[in-house]
Amino acid sequence: MMDKKVAELLNDQINKELYSAYLYLDMANFYSAQGLDGFANWYEIQAKEEQDHGMLIYKYLHNNGETVTLGAIAKPDKEFKTLMDPLKAAHVHEQYVTGLINAIYAAAQSVNDFRTVQFLDWFVKEQGEEEKNSADMIRKMELFGGDAKALYMLNSELAGRAYSAPSLQL
Ligand code: FEO
Repeated sequence: MMDKKVAELLNDQINKELYSAYLYLDMANFYSAQGLDGFANWYEIQAKEEQDHGMLIYKYLHNNGETVTLGAIAKPDKEFKTLMDPLKAAHVHEQYVTGLINAIYAAAQSVNDFRTVQFLDWFVKEQGEEEKNSADMIRKMELFGGDAKALYMLNSELAGRAYSAPSLQL
């Protein structure tokens, strides 16, 4: 039987991951309306990855005999005015998610739940990649966003992002 607090935090994290998917879909929606299909593609794939994260935790809880309770997913509430706004919001959001994962990790460690610690190792690594990717996006926009041709090239580069299923399988 899993520690109650750890199970609760994992259950909440399903909601947070699905909210992340919704937030990224909102970003894809914003870029799509701006005619930047490459940026939209990037965030559509990001949204799929977040759904995967939620499903991994959902399955992990089920595999460990826990009951999952699904709550309402909040409306994405960020206002985007410039092409940079979603990129910065994404980076701040990933830093927030890293904090959430770290808190679950610490809770699992504190009750010697090594199975959950091991499960979360993948998420800790993933958050490192997510933060790097979101920081890189800001950097690229700073470098190229002011020039129409360079923005076009960046959009084309982002259009090439392909979805791949998470390396962690349960
Ligand atoms: Fe599921 Fe972007 O972290």
